[in-house]
Amino acid sequence: MLKGISRTLGTAALAGVMLSSGFAMAANEPGKALAAKIGVPWPAVIAHRGASFNAPEETIPSYTLARELGADYLEMDIQRTKDGVLIALHDDTLERTTNIAEVYPNRVKDPLSTFTLEEIKRLDAGSWFNKAHPDRARASYAGLKILTLDEVIDIAEGGKNKPGLYIETKVPAQFPGIEEDLKKKLEQRGWLSQRPAAEKGHVNVAHMPGRVILQTFEKPSLELLQKAMPNTPKILLLWLGDGSIQAASDKTFKDSGAKDKASFYATQQVKSKEEFAAWMDWAKAHGAIGTGPASALKNGGDQSYMDLVQPWMNKMAHDRGLIIHPYTVDDAVDFKAISQRGVDGFFTNRASELLKFYGRPSKESMDSILKRIGY
Ligand code: G3P
Ligand code: CA
Repeated sequence: MLKGISRTLGTAALAGVMLSSGFAMAANEPGKALAAKIGVPWPAVIAHRGASFNAPEETIPSYTLARELGADYLEMDIQRTKDGVLIALHDDTLERTTNIAEVYPNRVKDPLSTFTLEEIKRLDAGSWFNKAHPDRARASYAGLKILTLDEVIDIAEGGKNKPGLYIETKVPAQFPGIEEDLKKKLEQRGWLSQRPAAEKGHVNVAHMPGRVILQTFEKPSLELLQKAMPNTPKILLLWLGDGSIQAASDKTFKDSGAKDKASFYATQQVKSKEEFAAWMDWAKAHGAIGTGPASALKNGGDQSYMDLVQPWMNKMAHDRGLIIHPYTVDDAVDFKAISQRGVDGFFTNRASELLKFYGRPSKESMDSILKRIGY
């Protein structure tokens, strides 16, 4: 369902909008029917670490911008502090995205799990972005804080658009019991039961059955999530090698002679169709409603991995009733090429661009939103 637009336009007009935007709806979209049955928006715009192309990942401006742009979901990676607080952070150390080298020079490579919340809140999680991306830098990003899950939920609840939460258990083996902790928090915040509808014309995903989607690369964590929250949709994230789906070759990047990782990954193939089918069957049997596959991008780059969204793979997933949300795709050329192979949305750092591709662009510019929300 396309919120907002779908309420005001008929089907033919909607198809026209989507065609003119580059997104062509096929006559029969298996994933669309599956998503409707589960109560998940289709096609889904999943703001990966928030609107993280334009603001420091997993911070207030990143998530607030994603919400205001009209993303369906705020995506986050959940870990746990030493004193038991769930926080949103991708890496399991603080080195890349904070000024830990200045604040705790002897703890730069220590795992996140060894820091208390009070210690983490002393760090600046915004200035790294300004240095890495001077073209997108804003003085107001300096000094941003790492967020707790509670604070991300506050953002999801805090505007007229009501996006859902797309929550990954990150390195769950480091955090025994995190699946139960997550359940307690979501229950306490009222996200495991029906939530109020958004005002007409606004994103309404928090009101849908798929208001929370749980995601993990780790089979044991999927099993624990299923035990803790059997009625909450779950996605098994897919990778090739390293204990995930078996690759045809066990050659490493180092041995391959490839010029960069993207070129190496692009050569990697699944060992067999049977191997891929076994993963689909396992996901289905253990409560997943879909998969989150890696994808290869036309222009390569750090986010370009193995091509796990080949048409036969997507058919295998859909035939088993599984929807498909590939990660992490930011460019129109890839939105188009991968959509034509039959997927049901994307993880993207550039929610603004994916929303344009799907024919529901934000009416307000990014600059205007950022200024309005105080950045
Ligand atoms: O969760 C989907 C995607 O985010 C997986 O990759 O490493 O960005 O968490 P990563
Ligand atoms: Ca993630």
